[in-house]
Amino acid sequence: MAEDKDNRRLVGAAVGGAALAGAVGVAAARRRKADGAIALPRGRAVITGASAGIGEEFARQLAAAGFDLTLVARREERLAALAAELSAAHGIRAEARAADLSRDGDIAALGDYLTGLPDLVLLVNNAGFGTRGTFTEVPLARTLDMIHVHVIASVALSRAALAGMEPRGRGAIINVSSIAGFFPSTGGATYGATKAYLTAFSEALAAEVKDKGIKVQALCPGFTATEFHDVGDYQGFDRGQIPAPLWMPASDVVTASLAALGGDGVVVVPGARYKAIVAAAHGPFGGRIRGAARALRQRWRGGVR
Ligand SMILES: NC(=O)c1ccc[n+]([C@@H]2O[C@H](COP(=O)([O-])OP(=O)(O)OC[C@H]3O[C@@H](n4cnc5c(N)ncnc54)[C@H](OP(=O)(O)O)[C@@H]3O)[C@@H](O)[C@H]2O)c1
Repeated sequence: MAEDKDNRRLVGAAVGGAALAGAVGVAAARRRKADGAIALPRGRAVITGASAGIGEEFARQLAAAGFDLTLVARREERLAALAAELSAAHGIRAEARAADLSRDGDIAALGDYLTGLPDLVLLVNNAGFGTRGTFTEVPLARTLDMIHVHVIASVALSRAALAGMEPRGRGAIINVSSIAGFFPSTGGATYGATKAYLTAFSEALAAEVKDKGIKVQALCPGFTATEFHDVGDYQGFDRGQIPAPLWMPASDVVTASLAALGGDGVVVVPGARYKAIVAAAHGPFGGRIRGAARALRQRWRGGVR
């Protein structure tokens, strides 16, 4: 009963506020999708976590728009197959680069590669994963790996990418954060904190490099249908616990992100429902919305992403 009430409150806030908070943005994003325009000069995009989910979808949409690609993740055979498929389909140059971004050595090597790329126009810091359980239930090594993959890699790779982007006076960095960064919740102490870091980091960095012709975006999706809830600690996770209207396809998330590069927004929340939830969480009834999100997070043990 209480769960139903929490579900209704959160989904109600989302659906009820959607017309106000999201309709204009969604309509604009659809128009931009129809235009097929991505407001960046063509060159190379480097995408971390490109072997699945949101990262793979970035690869597909950027290849279709004519960008050359470097695809990064641990599962090299998947990256190689995707690179071959997209090169053949779109006549672009795509390469696979294996890296484990929980390791300092792999982060440093990828950073050196980025700094030396003369045609780099876009870095997408997307690699990530979730854990289940409270802070003391999750092994410390897993928690530290998460901080490496989400935060340390994104910071180091952003710095390396900017070394070339600043003198060239063009480029963009997309840091894939999460709406979890707005809702510190039980079972997501480190996940939410790493995503809050990425959002705050992106906002400040965007202001620092704006006058140098470089854009920085914090992409904050909600629940997205990818492999995220199937791998690692999430194996066996029951997706049916999450109300169906809260799931988004990765294609919509990526379309919203790429379309937003044409505007001035830094924090991008895809989907009218999630725009409404985030807007409501910052409004006069924000405490109640955040409370409902926290309560749901605790029940789902999977969390508001
Ligand atoms: N799905 C959601 O509901 C949701 C919502 C909000 C935000 N996000 C964020 O979106 C991003 C992408 O997640 P997704 O939903 O697309 O999940 P996914 O389908 O599981 O993809 C995750 C990607 O990250 C890569 N990765 C994980 N650990 C890595 C490591 N140590 N080194 C290098 N690459 C690593 C994986 O590749 P390998 O396993 O091959 O290394 C994979 O390509 C993440 O940052 C996640 O936090 C997801």
